[in-house]
Amino acid sequence: KMAGALMAARPFSFSFNTSDYRILLMDQDQGRLYLGSREYLVALDMHNVNKEPLIIHWPASAKRKGECQMTGKGRQGECANFVRLIEPWNRTHLYTCGTGAYQPICTFINRGWRAEDYLFRLVPGYADSGKGKCSYDPKQESIAVLINGNLYAGVHIDFMSTDATLFRTMGGRTAIRTEQYDSRWLNEPVFVQIQQIPDSAERNDDKLYFFFREKSLDSSGGASPSVLARVGRVCLNDEGGQKSLVNRWTTFLKARLICSVIGEDGVETRFDELRDVFIQPTQDERNPMVYALFTTAGSVFKGSAVCVYSMADIRNVFNGPFAHKHGHNYQWTEYTGKIPYPRPGTCPGGTFTPGIRSSKNFSDEAVNFIRAHPLMIHPVYPIHRRPLVVRTGVDYRFTAMVVDQVDAVDGRYEVLFLGTDRGTVQKVIVLPKDPTSMEELTLEEVEVFRVFKCIFLVSPQQQLYVSSDAGLTQVSLHRCGVYGRACSDCCLARDPYCAWDGESCSAFTPSTKRRSRRQDVKHGDPLRQCRGFNAKETVQFGVEGSSTFLECQPRSPQATIKWLFQREGKRKVVRITVTFLRNMRISISLLPVQQI
Ligand SMILES: *[C@@H]1O[C@H](CO)[C@@H](O)[C@H](O)[C@H]1NC(C)=O
Ligand SMILES: *[C@@H]1O[C@H](CO)[C@@H](O)[C@H](O)[C@H]1NC(C)=O
Repeated sequence: KMAGALMAARPFSFSFNTSDYRILLMDQDQGRLYLGSREYLVALDMHNVNKEPLIIHWPASAKRKGECQMTGKGRQGECANFVRLIEPWNRTHLYTCGTGAYQPICTFINRGWRAEDYLFRLVPGYADSGKGKCSYDPKQESIAVLINGNLYAGVHIDFMSTDATLFRTMGGRTAIRTEQYDSRWLNEPVFVQIQQIPDSAERNDDKLYFFFREKSLDSSGGASPSVLARVGRVCLNDEGGQKSLVNRWTTFLKARLICSVIGEDGVETRFDELRDVFIQPTQDERNPMVYALFTTAGSVFKGSAVCVYSMADIRNVFNGPFAHKHGHNYQWTEYTGKIPYPRPGTCPGGTFTPGIRSSKNFSDEAVNFIRAHPLMIHPVYPIHRRPLVVRTGVDYRFTAMVVDQVDAVDGRYEVLFLGTDRGTVQKVIVLPKDPTSMEELTLEEVEVFRVFKCIFLVSPQQQLYVSSDAGLTQVSLHRCGVYGRACSDCCLARDPYCAWDGESCSAFTPSTKRRSRRQDVKHGDPLRQCRGFNAKETVQFGVEGSSTFLECQPRSPQATIKWLFQREGKRKVVRITVTFLRNMRISISLLPVQQI
């Protein structure tokens, strides 16, 4: 399936030499976009991206670069300061960290009170250690979030990148980490996403959820996959244990995320390689939707899928039975013994444990139990037990994702922007077809850059920002002009961002709702929407028994075209449903009426 409008977007060009545009942060208050790359931090004006950006040059010192080279680490240019974290600190300052040529460093940025202050600079003379906040090796993925002055990071904490951990530093609370070199907790993890999600109105129950993939402990077994996708969580107010698990999480739990599809041949395709997670807020802050992007593990068969999980399902798994393993040669089984009180994973001082002030007051049994049983036995299944989007049998993989909610004439739609490893972004919408199945439509595909990884951000100005190793690009969410000027083309496109306004296909905003706006995302039926307008009708004459060319140039990949067969005054629909390539010519043999 090929999308219609393949158009190249132009990357921003900066006056300085950098690469690895990996960090993007939106500052809604100031209408700015912050970008972190190799040795540079940039503040762009989201209202006017052509305005000269504010730039901070933040290199590693020459001395440090020299020391880094001496260790033999700099062969691919890693002996530089790669910015890996930009987080809001307070009303006037941001906190930022970089790899510092294999010696992570952090500092504050003064961004001023208001955008008009036109301020963006490092706090002079200030530097923090970045250990446990950002990885040493720029090639290692890391995740981090600042919550109430505490920094929670999924990082490699050592120079050699052998010690991966979920680490808490800074602020008033004690530094806490996962149990070191315990493969039951984390086994060569790759961290993907981290976010606080409250579990109840009681703040002491607040938890941090993180998403990662890791090596399976059972990979020698053959049948089980070598990589597993995980959701994990800890309590924000965890202070570690008193006798055991001192300065270690006492509330760390994890569960497997399943994303698979059963083919028509009955063969299951599993997507285990978690690549990206997008958490879509809903009215209820406790129940955002979790969109997860997966690919198949291994290099032979290329497949990608997006699965959606509900927080209710994730919580049910964490409230369910624990996994138990007798020794290295045993399979995981359900733990059926007595579960200590408070139930492992419960936060101190929460709804069910009001009398326990700190995790240091957890019983020894509870602490020892979680140390050996951080894994839940049941996996989390996606909503409807199947992926929302699947791509198999194609020569590309998805690498990144963002989801936008769009209000259209006939309801609210979720549009997925999916980055591919061939350097394009696909804009995909999923529509309910009937109560049990969904229909997935690729609205368009935009060429961004030839890269393998990218990061997305959707701004309130309805721009999609794509950053990657190679650059930063901006793509408008609604590029309605690509669907042409005709009502029927606009309607067939089924793009919830676009509607036909009487003259052309243009951006649709619900606030300026006008009756004359024609849009039909659900059915894409131009016969109903565009009657009397410039609906496209082409008459083609054919002779029975012979063949003829029916030529058409659909503007959108959704143009499933109906040809009407007219004979003796009666019209009959010739059912031809094709996903058209742009400017494709098709040849159809006209069959006698009875056979149509
Ligand atoms: C924000 O934090 C910085 C760094 O700690 C500090 O210097 C500054 O005064 C703070 N600003 C406000 C408004 O609290
Ligand atoms: C909880 O732990 C603290 C510090 O370890 C200790 O001082 C206190 O007595 C404990 N409280 C209870 C109720 O056990």
